Amino acid sequence: SSDLSSDNNGHLILGGVDSVELAHKYGTPLVVYDVGEIRDQIKRFKSNFDLSGLKYQISYASKAFATVAMYQVLKQEDVHTDVVSGGELYTALKARFPADKISFHGNNKSLQELEMAVDNHIGVVIIDNFLEIKLLKQLLEEKSANIDVMLRLTPGISAHTHKYDQTGQVDSKFGFDVESDQATKALEQVLEIPQMNLIGIHAHIGSQIFGVEGFEMLAKKMVDISAQWKKQFDFVPKILNLGGGFGISYTDEDEPIGPDVFIDKIISTIKENVKKQSLPLPEVWIEPGRSIVGPAGYNLYTVGSRKDIPDMLSYVNVDGGMGDNIRPALYQAKYEAVVANKMNQNIEEEDHIAGKYCESGDILIDRQALPKTEPGDIIAMLDTGAYGYSMASNYNRNPRPAVVFVENGKDKLVVKRESYEDLVRLDESYI
Ligand code: LLP
Repeated sequence: SSDLSSDNNGHLILGGVDSVELAHKYGTPLVVYDVGEIRDQIKRFKSNFDLSGLKYQISYASKAFATVAMYQVLKQEDVHTDVVSGGELYTALKARFPADKISFHGNNKSLQELEMAVDNHIGVVIIDNFLEIKLLKQLLEEKSANIDVMLRLTPGISAHTHKYDQTGQVDSKFGFDVESDQATKALEQVLEIPQMNLIGIHAHIGSQIFGVEGFEMLAKKMVDISAQWKKQFDFVPKILNLGGGFGISYTDEDEPIGPDVFIDKIISTIKENVKKQSLPLPEVWIEPGRSIVGPAGYNLYTVGSRKDIPDMLSYVNVDGGMGDNIRPALYQAKYEAVVANKMNQNIEEEDHIAGKYCESGDILIDRQALPKTEPGDIIAMLDTGAYGYSMASNYNRNPRPAVVFVENGKDKLVVKRESYEDLVRLDESYI
């Protein structure tokens, strides 16, 4: 987790703003992003590519966190973004994010979603399966339109991470299998369609990855595939898109690997292998999500009730939980937290930090060292920026929290807190 700063009152400071004041001003649970951290991380990714002399694109994976304000920041930072649904695409377009810098992913894009992509002239559709080739071809013919595409491949490489987070192994719902003739069949079909301009190949091997080996294997494999396709079809993909998955550190147990290490390995492996295969240098794209927004996000909660059990850890209960961050319950994900109004107080105990949802599994942190807490204290859970708010729900009919951006000592509400009225807005009466 990030280096934390606090003021003389022992209050946690985020982006130059007192987090305790934020909690009082906007209420809790509250999701706060330090926008400077997002910008810095994007710059870190870029600077390593800049040194390499390779053409590249950073395409932020919006599924990690997608709101109008986020797409506006991405636009300012001049990166690409990928979307995986009509909803993400709609949000990006609402934010006036440049359509030509959007990639569209998904293993079951609907005809309507594909139509939306074509009508809005988005940058590239990353084709996942044979039905999609057929649907997109039909649309392009009807509309006399053209579009850039990439083929998503399943490279047969599995990164060592949580099972739900693996996507690159052969037994996966995503992409064209390269072990069989699926990928070459897809290639042949796409090359036959004049309305589709095949600009590259894509693969994604998983998420929250700590080893660089998976990316080295993938980079080599993609170059090998390019060489094979050159021989067989006289076609060389111009772009190699290696997906996302760069791991971040949530607790002391996680060994942090900086973007620099990942990028260096990817670049050197590609350079070495294209030389071997006498291929031109490709353009390299990556799709980081978690590593861009994860460390920049903080969930603020207010401490309420407490349960003490003899000889066991106490439960410190907060006013949010699995509705604003499902990751601990769903993946047994670990986080760290601090008491935002007691940063200068000594650690006195270890507690469970429990959510307010009616489910025993709604424990945000199983064991956290804390100062003595009391009702009204503000708990800041760290590194919650990826797949927290984006996977939020209305379970137990709790409204989803507000989201605030902080930067240079200023705070700005970017998503309003849901109201009870919002919760019933789509409900229709039966009697
Ligand atoms: N590109 C593709 C094609 C992906 O499927 C994903 C993530 C990414 C990029 C971004 O991966 P990242 O850099 O964020 O690891 N909900 C899970 C994570 C699911 C990731 C799905 N795909 C979690 O909370 O851990």
